[in-house]
Amino acid sequence: TVDPSLAPTPSQSSLNLQLLELRARGRYGSLWKAQLSDQDSCKDLITSENPVIPSALKHVAVKVFPLQDKQSWMAEVDIYRLSHMKHDNILRFIASERKEETHVTEFWLITEFHENGSLSDYLKSHTITWAELCKIGESMTCGLAYLHNEIPGTYGSMANLAIAHRDFKSKNVLLKHDLTACIADFGLALKFEPGKMFNETHPQVGTRRYMAPEVLEGAICFSLDSFLRIDMYACGLVLWEMMTRCTAVNEYAEIYRLPFEAEVGLQPTLEEMQTLVVTQKVRPAINPAWHQHQGLCSLISTVEECWDQDAEARLSAGCVNERIRQLACTVNS
Ligand code: ADE
Repeated sequence: TVDPSLAPTPSQSSLNLQLLELRARGRYGSLWKAQLSDQDSCKDLITSENPVIPSALKHVAVKVFPLQDKQSWMAEVDIYRLSHMKHDNILRFIASERKEETHVTEFWLITEFHENGSLSDYLKSHTITWAELCKIGESMTCGLAYLHNEIPGTYGSMANLAIAHRDFKSKNVLLKHDLTACIADFGLALKFEPGKMFNETHPQVGTRRYMAPEVLEGAICFSLDSFLRIDMYACGLVLWEMMTRCTAVNEYAEIYRLPFEAEVGLQPTLEEMQTLVVTQKVRPAINPAWHQHQGLCSLISTVEECWDQDAEARLSAGCVNERIRQLACTVNS
């Protein structure tokens, strides 16, 4: 792994960025809405790596990592710098920087900014129509299928490189202006290159609430497929979150709740999640009213096939993407 803080531009382009507004605090550091404070900075961003200035770069997102989280910043930059990572449904990387202020060192990761924020934030304050559910679901699974290397890239991806996200959840899916989705937060992602061994020492990572039963049990095998299936379990939970906020059968929808919030609240322990998901095999509640809608009814089966206890029985991202694509065409409202 190359230390990106020592790499040439744009890593060290010293952008003139002004942090405007703290948007979120994550596992590592904080997420800011920021602005380029002079036009010259824009020029620094046009490189062969980054030929397009995203929407005139009015605003960008800056993830600020404190010094002690340098490893996490490096891990995430390492993933974003792969040529594989250029796709409409993957958050667009702009630059990374080591920032030395007086006595304080920080590590910045600069990406495109999306005003709608995360899918989780959006669902908290908005309901979605059937058409919107399809649009978000289709674009999100397109991004995931691309990451998993199931579909060829539009930008010439590295052949045979697959990436497991390992922290897939509605907070890590962002919504663009047109309500298409892009996947963010690659701090825990693992890349699988053909012919290369990979050494993973800590398999039980991610967010407890979204951990697949085999992760909660600590019983995963270290193959690419097993990691992709773990992402698909979480993808099922995210699709369920979208269904709870869909107005297709009830114009008010349900109130927004995280998966398993009804069962274990907001701060579940690992033991609580193990009991619920591994021992009792509980999954989020399917609203009986959804059976009245042809689209939601089909989506129930898809979601259940994503979160199957048996990891090998789970659908792939490409398959879920195809199913939602079909549903969007056949069920209009
Ligand atoms: N939250 C996390 N990343 C973000 C981004 N790039 N834009 C807007 N909100 C975000």
